[in-house]
Amino acid sequence: MREQIKFYGEEKIPLELHKVRIVQKLHLVPIERRLAALYEGGFNTFQLGTRDVFLDMLTDSGTNAMSDNQLAAMMQADDAYAGSQSFTRLQKAVEEVLGKKYFLPVHQGRAAENVICKTFLKKGDVVPMNYHFTTALAHITENGGRIEELLCDDALQIKSSNPFKGNIDIDKLVACIERNGKENIPFIRMEASTNLIGGQPFSIANLMDVRRVADKYGIMLVLDASLIGENAYLIKQREKEWEENTMADILKIMTNLADLVYFSARKLSSSRGGGICTNRKEYYTKMEALIPLFEGFLTYGGMSTREIEAMAVGLYETLDETMISQSPDFIKYLVKQLESRGIPVVTPAGVLGCHLDAMQFCAHIPQSQYPAGALAAAFFLISGVRGMERGSISNQRDEAGNETYADVELLRLAIPRRVFTLSQIKYVEDRLQWLYDNRELIGGLKFIYEPPVLRFFMGKLAPVSDWPEKMMAKFRRDFGDSL
Ligand code: F0G
Repeated sequence: MREQIKFYGEEKIPLELHKVRIVQKLHLVPIERRLAALYEGGFNTFQLGTRDVFLDMLTDSGTNAMSDNQLAAMMQADDAYAGSQSFTRLQKAVEEVLGKKYFLPVHQGRAAENVICKTFLKKGDVVPMNYHFTTALAHITENGGRIEELLCDDALQIKSSNPFKGNIDIDKLVACIERNGKENIPFIRMEASTNLIGGQPFSIANLMDVRRVADKYGIMLVLDASLIGENAYLIKQREKEWEENTMADILKIMTNLADLVYFSARKLSSSRGGGICTNRKEYYTKMEALIPLFEGFLTYGGMSTREIEAMAVGLYETLDETMISQSPDFIKYLVKQLESRGIPVVTPAGVLGCHLDAMQFCAHIPQSQYPAGALAAAFFLISGVRGMERGSISNQRDEAGNETYADVELLRLAIPRRVFTLSQIKYVEDRLQWLYDNRELIGGLKFIYEPPVLRFFMGKLAPVSDWPEKMMAKFRRDFGDSL
């Protein structure tokens, strides 16, 4: 619908198609406080408190705006340990939207990964995939498996015109299966809107090819559908064959091609929780026992019934293109603006957020000093905007304890659905321009505390020099007493 609105003037803006009815006050604290907050939080944006954050672009996980209908549904939640009607409503939504009959609720996406890996993976197994997500990789390795990432060759190029950088390379997939033996491959994992390479979608044509390979070798196909709504929207935009189809059609086509679909409902449906669904009774039965063990009874899976109600409504809302397109359209706008200013961003614009290329932005910082982490810290310092490092800090060390550098060093500025206004996006653009013009002032980081698993969450770092102080001094010279 947004595309059907033409503007009289030159600038095409991504007009908001919703109104804001509940608001939350923001705080923009002075740069001196932001610097202190960085030291307190070990230069790790996960360790900042929202009192010190102006625009929270850490993630879209659990931060997308909820709708009036979701909030209304939460009021009719049916609290019951077993057999809740709220769960029945959710089951129906899963069946109608995702086309799967058997549904297991979990407390969030990574819990689904735990259940799937514990059920289907044995030590020494290999999981081929388009690309990993941090928690998926952690669960696979925790269970003694390893991964092979089989993206097309140009998928890791920052600047690209490939509309489907999330596609798996079919030749590489076949070679991987032949090399490892199908008996050592419990499943192929396809991630919708490949998160860590900049929210890049795969095409239906590619998923169909993966299905054919899976059938040929008798291997299960698992779809991580956390960002399936956005992937479906970009298919509608970019894959000619499907442009006339509705979101409902495209979603069903995608999920029908997978044997097992799992998701984080913190993204898909803008609520909390998550789930695993399938039409194969035998898969459901294999996993079932783990739900009461790790999550909660089968009709709540660690979620509150209110969250379950919100999830059911949110799943239906995923079919609404007006709703699902808001974040990708804002991202597209910001990416276009930054590109025109010569600021290095991942293209084509993906979903979830705008992704800056820290390797180019901070070309003077070696990968051993975490350019993406440094860029995240520097941007918070000068703007109060909190992004997330998606580079080597988010990687895990290899079995021998060696650092493994990420394929891409990105600063992700998440744009959760219907949360920010266009003037806030303009503020981000303005501050990024200043930072880009002063980029030589950004310095590296080093770990001072490094946890063994998912180190990016709790790790603490320190600057390698007094670069943050120098940057703050420059900010004061340029902006005077501005916040
Ligand atoms: N899969 C994908 C593709 C994800 O993006 C996430 C979470 C998960 C699985 C795990 O789900 O958080 O509910 O346990 N992504 C968040 C992010 C954390 O910020 O991108 P979860």
